[in-house]
Amino acid sequence: MPDKLKQIQGELQAAIQKCADLRALDGIRVKYLGRKGIITELLKQIGTMPPNERRDFGRQVNELKQHAADAIGSRKAELEAAEAEAKVSQEAVDVTLPGRRPIIGRKHIITQTLDEIIGILKGMGFAVAYGPDLETDYYNYEALNFPPDHPARDMQDTFWIDETHLLRTHTSPVQIRVMEQMQPPVRVIMPGRCFRNESINVRSHVMFHQIEGLYVDEGVTFGDLKGTLYAFLQTWLGTDVEIRFRPSYFPFTEPSAEVDVTCILCKGSGCRVCKHTGWLELLGAGMVDPALYSYVGYDPERYTGYAWGLGIERLVMMKYGIEDIRVFFQNDIRFLEQF
Ligand code: DAH
Repeated sequence: MPDKLKQIQGELQAAIQKCADLRALDGIRVKYLGRKGIITELLKQIGTMPPNERRDFGRQVNELKQHAADAIGSRKAELEAAEAEAKVSQEAVDVTLPGRRPIIGRKHIITQTLDEIIGILKGMGFAVAYGPDLETDYYNYEALNFPPDHPARDMQDTFWIDETHLLRTHTSPVQIRVMEQMQPPVRVIMPGRCFRNESINVRSHVMFHQIEGLYVDEGVTFGDLKGTLYAFLQTWLGTDVEIRFRPSYFPFTEPSAEVDVTCILCKGSGCRVCKHTGWLELLGAGMVDPALYSYVGYDPERYTGYAWGLGIERLVMMKYGIEDIRVFFQNDIRFLEQF
């Protein structure tokens, strides 16, 4: 083989060895075997040669062409195999890696607390009832024995929608709705949102939650109220919790009381949260005022009952040492995901 062809073969060999991917290899193929490739040009020269040289040269160039095509072909197969392998290992799944946890939502701390309380009271025989957030004056005040223009209405600053409609200021109106619907024995709890026209600050908000309790039957006494609240609060807050009743006033109960529990943080020894009294004011309660029975058609000579209303936010704040009521409604994930 003439030196020139040997040189071409050598260079081709070296280029094929060096090339690292299929694109580069195709470049080599074009350079040598393409329409204007080095070997193609040599093949074209065969026809222009004197006959005595033509035969040998033609054979040698054709051998070179064959060799080039074979070498490029086998390198191509090698590179294809390598690329396939790389792709497989790239796409492989490492089954030993720990999984990625999806971010799962959760119930709001207020809802969690309501669920807890409802669970306990259901276990004690109470059914659950709900009433509308948008109430009428009749249910929110009148049938609860707040006469028109009575100063007791001033205890609750109200969002009026029109002359007769308002956002309910407490869950007590559901008592009337429930008693209208059924005859004693009535044993229900009524959780829900309440609204008051307050200026928003760390201590008060325009929106909060209450859970109302009502038990009406023959022979229900203040002792039943005490025993039930005692059992409920000890189940919820711990067996070492004590309760005390202070006289109070609500238009819909007679007698009425405020109920305190021993401070859940210091267990009664006195701390900042209970203002060093050892007690926390937790709920309002009392015996259902017989005046309510005339609104719902119960016989006041036959039935007696008790009721209570418990605010949720205040208690959650004390339990977790939360100092600003606004965080419950700001929906900052950093706050919410702590519970
Ligand atoms: N509704 C009262 C309030 O929001 C709380 C309350 C007091 C509810 C005494 C009751 C009760 O059922 O008997 O201030």
